[in-house]
Amino acid sequence: RSRAAADLTRLTRWVDDFPEPGVQFADVTPVFADASAFRDIVDALASIGEGADLVAGIDARGFLLGAGVALELGAGVLAVRKAGKLPPPVLGREYSLEYGTARLEIPADGLDLSGRKVLVIDDVLATGGTLGAAAELLTDAGAEVLGVAVVLEIEALGGRGRLTKYPLTSLLRV
Ligand code: PRP
Repeated sequence: RSRAAADLTRLTRWVDDFPEPGVQFADVTPVFADASAFRDIVDALASIGEGADLVAGIDARGFLLGAGVALELGAGVLAVRKAGKLPPPVLGREYSLEYGTARLEIPADGLDLSGRKVLVIDDVLATGGTLGAAAELLTDAGAEVLGVAVVLEIEALGGRGRLTKYPLTSLLRV
């Protein structure tokens, strides 16, 4: 068991009935706020990103991880945004969440992703809708998705089964 997994076990805050009744929310805020845990997690994610020249972090906690991992790898960083945050034109992809639907977007202009080798990062894998949509969106834009990675995987929600097209790494499975 890795140091990152131990950090996540110790510091993740579990919140019942958020953001909807019946959903248990894994809040990794305290993990990232701990200097040693944040270092362990960024190191662990960077170690699986060899060959990536771009790290895509998903709104919102994926941004924090993505920037740290990109610096470690000597790669660029890209924020994959929730709908409505970026100026047009955008490329977007709808997805379904454990609670409702949503849409992720990236800029359609001024950013050439063709041939870029991308590692996609988020905090939590639940149903896999978010990470899958991000990977598909980047693929549509011409990037090569080398892998997708999260710190925490909630196994019971079956996200891994929806992400079979991409190598998936999770630092802790619960
Ligand atoms: C959470 C989490 C992942 C997503 C995982 O984000 O940060 O992005 O859910 O769920 P899935 O595997 O079922 O798609 P959320 O949508 O709550 O948004 P937030 O990052 O703004 O909190």
